Amino acid sequence: MTRSWQNPLRDERDKRLPTIAGPCGLVIFGVTGDLSRKKLMPAIYDLANRGLLPPGFSLVGFARRDWADEDFSQVVHDAVKEHARTPFRQEVWDQLVEGCRFVQGSFDDDAAFDNLVQTIQDLDQVRGTSGNHAFYLSIPPAAFPKVIQQLARTGLAEPKNHEWRRVVIEKPFGHDLTSAKQLNKMVNEIFPEESVFRIDHYLGKETVQNIMAFRFANQLFEPIWNGNYVDHVQITMAEDIGLGGRAGYYDGIGAARDVIQNHLLQLLALTAMEEPVSFDPQAVRAEKAKILAATKPVGPFSETTARGQYTGGWQGGQKVPGLLQEGGFAKDSITETFAAIELAVDTRRWAGVPFYLRTGKRLGRRVTEIAVVFKRAPHLPFDATSTEELGQNAIVFRVQPDEGVTMRFGSKVPGSTMEVRDVNMDFSYGHSFTESSPEAYERLILDVLLGEPSLFPKNDEVELSWQILDPIMKAWRASGKPEPYQAGTWGPASAERMLTRTGRHWRRP
Ligand code: BG6
Repeated sequence: MTRSWQNPLRDERDKRLPTIAGPCGLVIFGVTGDLSRKKLMPAIYDLANRGLLPPGFSLVGFARRDWADEDFSQVVHDAVKEHARTPFRQEVWDQLVEGCRFVQGSFDDDAAFDNLVQTIQDLDQVRGTSGNHAFYLSIPPAAFPKVIQQLARTGLAEPKNHEWRRVVIEKPFGHDLTSAKQLNKMVNEIFPEESVFRIDHYLGKETVQNIMAFRFANQLFEPIWNGNYVDHVQITMAEDIGLGGRAGYYDGIGAARDVIQNHLLQLLALTAMEEPVSFDPQAVRAEKAKILAATKPVGPFSETTARGQYTGGWQGGQKVPGLLQEGGFAKDSITETFAAIELAVDTRRWAGVPFYLRTGKRLGRRVTEIAVVFKRAPHLPFDATSTEELGQNAIVFRVQPDEGVTMRFGSKVPGSTMEVRDVNMDFSYGHSFTESSPEAYERLILDVLLGEPSLFPKNDEVELSWQILDPIMKAWRASGKPEPYQAGTWGPASAERMLTRTGRHWRRP
């Protein structure tokens, strides 16, 4: 149930995150992890600072460390000071820290979960959290079932009367279709689907939500948003960082499971889906699921996919190690750090339009974008030499870092001859809006507390995404090692070949 109330700390002029969470608390499992320190704790503070949390909001950390409430509060404090987006205000912190508690224990420790029950009951009394609690699983996937069972055993999963209980699950949600189905079944036996919030933080990004505004609020683009005009779509999520320090999570997972299965397929769904009948969570999720159900990998995979692993090289003037030299990775690891795949969306709108998805670590620069590339004009009434520098028209959603939308088209070069060259027309958030965008986790945590599920993939979306990826992963397992590519480049040679075989090219953002 969605609740809202008036919070005195809130700035009424702030329209970006307009609804305030009612009385509630959040329990984080895996509170000593990086995600928690760098994203979750700062996001909670930023929400509090903007007056979007109730004054009695409570934050409970659960972990093995031998910490007292004060130690935990200090960790939250340091994380907020280091990573929060909004300025530190003592009065906001003083109010937040009053609600910080720590419960020590491991996930198979019944007594620790009994303590958690006690802590939550106390908070309901002293902080007025009214039995409304969300449980955030920022823990290794192998531990999901154990924690969810403990929540069931202790009755924490079951709300009484007007209370609510919700579970937030970080990715990866399974490692293939079979395991995702098992996990969904297990979770749904304990938490009804409307209480399950699967995190895909890309959906919390402003630029990603803007894809729907761009497509469905304008008359200009939708008529050409189909295979009559679109030649192909390229979705790129490139990162310049390496995987030092992340071996525990990443080795054996790889780029396709880490980001294609979730972030990139969600971007594809938003780019390709039909207009939802409304912006109700059900309507939007149903349209995304329909597109994912129509999306198929295109073979032969030896030609239509690419898989790479970075070796040492130079990046930003610095010498950087290859994956196999990063601490914690097996010396013969075949985990891919680059993945590119071709997909077809089998609908009337998209028949014959390839969707190319690529992602990688230690690439040329950090950029995420969706480029919708249009067919060439059917006829060019110019000399061939006049249009030598004319490419294909494109609309590019710049998801990050330079958030905005670019349109590329041909224009006459000033001068006495008719020469046509590509130019860009730009919309940039920085120039058009004075408000800065909230962090994805701010938006998503608030939506969990409000019970607003639109930005969280449903069980069927997650399964459909694995269904798309599974055949590719199977082929890759059989084909042995990924292809090496040098750090600081744009991936392995096979990625280039994937497109050049059809006369196309990856963009160099
Ligand atoms: C995470 C992946 O989901 O997204 C990471 O697990 C990746 O490997 C990160 O680095 C990137 O997020 P962002 O928001 O910086 O693009």
